[in-house]
Amino acid sequence: MSNEERLNHLEQLREQIKLGGGQRRIDVQHGKGKLTARERIRLLLDEGSFEEFDQLVLLSGSEYAEDKVQSESVVTGWGRIDGRPVYVFSQDFTVVGGSLSTPMGDKIIKIMDLALRNGAPVIGLNDGGGARIQEGVDALASYGEIFTRNVLASGVVPQISVVMGPAAGGAVYSPALTDFIFMTQGTSQMYLTGPDVIKAVTGEDVTHEELGGAMAHASRSGVCHFAIEGEENCLQEVRRLFSFLPLNNMEDPPYVETGDDPERRDEELLRIVPEDEGRPYDMREVIYRVVDGGDFMEVHAHFAQNMIVGFARIAGQTIGIVGNQPLYLAGVIDIDSSRKAARFVRFCDAFNIPVLTFVDTGGFLPGTSQEYGGIISHGAKLVYAYAEATVPKITIIIRKAYGGAYDAMGSKHLRADLNLAWPTAMIAVMGPEPAVNIIYRSELAAASDVEETRAQLVADYKERLSNPYIAASRGYIDDVIDPRDTRVRVANALAMLRTKNDHLPPKKHGNLPL
Ligand code: HXC
Repeated sequence: MSNEERLNHLEQLREQIKLGGGQRRIDVQHGKGKLTARERIRLLLDEGSFEEFDQLVLLSGSEYAEDKVQSESVVTGWGRIDGRPVYVFSQDFTVVGGSLSTPMGDKIIKIMDLALRNGAPVIGLNDGGGARIQEGVDALASYGEIFTRNVLASGVVPQISVVMGPAAGGAVYSPALTDFIFMTQGTSQMYLTGPDVIKAVTGEDVTHEELGGAMAHASRSGVCHFAIEGEENCLQEVRRLFSFLPLNNMEDPPYVETGDDPERRDEELLRIVPEDEGRPYDMREVIYRVVDGGDFMEVHAHFAQNMIVGFARIAGQTIGIVGNQPLYLAGVIDIDSSRKAARFVRFCDAFNIPVLTFVDTGGFLPGTSQEYGGIISHGAKLVYAYAEATVPKITIIIRKAYGGAYDAMGSKHLRADLNLAWPTAMIAVMGPEPAVNIIYRSELAAASDVEETRAQLVADYKERLSNPYIAASRGYIDDVIDPRDTRVRVANALAMLRTKNDHLPPKKHGNLPL
């Protein structure tokens, strides 16, 4: 055989392999509104940047044959997003339903090991039926090996999972161990046990979508961080998230020239907080006006909406933003919002992303459902995450910072670097009405006109105790600022904190109240 013939032969082999499970199954995949494993990689990565590994690994149990070669049900390799390296695996549903065999597991493990050694993120595109049933314990062993690598890579390189089809059984735990999960709306489902098993065990009737669809996990369980319509959109959003992140924990996030002047003042910030302190406003509006170009990538947008978290830039530098949202539940902190914010702060801390916190919360949500659900432990996660974080931490109190929530939301006492307040800030142990009811109980009981006395006492409490000046007089607040200067003050703080070098006491690891 001449060299040219050999190359032609190799090319033919590749063409066959690229068809995965064959044209008929590709048509079925497209018919479901789904792309193939290779089409997805093309959309995810910079054009022409993908280099595949292990294309010639044969389907488990098959042998090399001249006329018919089928490769394993995953495409793996590396490529670039905006010129920066990333390792990728993309499960091929057209080959044995994208299920996990030993060779498939080995392909995934190889790129995870490379990612960890070379300090670059891993993106996994998941579309498969979990452990390949015919492989028995070997498939379970492979999952275990992948989980271990997910854990070892956690906090070292960012790991992003994109679920674009079914993910059942073992297939959900690898994504669950990664930093972010994207799901496509209407075409992806994640569950440990599917509707048939649930029906058999509990008698409960539930559809695939109700049980494990993107919106179920984005709004109810919180397992999904981004529920996106359409695969192309979804992969674009993955690229967008990637643009905010460093390649690994030893690097800073990339600087991006945004063209937005750090000195820009925003007049509207003066009018955002309503004069009536009981009225809500949208904290997102504050965020949009402060960050570069109004570009804010919200994480967990549908989950625990009383807390906002996400990525943005100020002066071209990536920051993580945490904010109470007065529009939902008046911004109180509950179990889900504590978990949401704590996990986000820890991600930022692991990857050198400064945390900017906007505070307006009446406190932790009271009630038996919260207490029985463990708000004590879950709220403690938030305190833990802020206190532990060594990245630059800047906190701005916009309006209410009452009780434990004052402490928990990035207070000076949890080692925040710069704590500012707007003149509208109300920092106190609790809101005026409940406080007056407790501390003036006997005065109210003796009053001839209870309502008038209460109104006077409330007004007096607000003036004397519920403002930013007592905290500022103690140094707990570094300055009370003109809201219009928020952006420039944060930009200056980030510049001042660029050389921050803080460490935790030596330990194996802490014991986060899980
Ligand atoms: C082997 C599988 C498979 C699997 C699918 N296929 N899942 N083969 N092992 N786990 C095959 C099917 O037999 C079929 O082959 C092809 O893939 C496409 O599957 P369909 O069922 O036709 O597709 P669809 O109707 O779209 O349904 C997709 C599905 C369903 C929802 C994923 O296939 C399914 O429920 N699969 C089983 C899911 C599951 O329970 N997995 C095991 C989890 S246990 P043909 O040749 O007929 O086209 C697990 C343990 C790990 O993962 C635990 C670690 C902690």
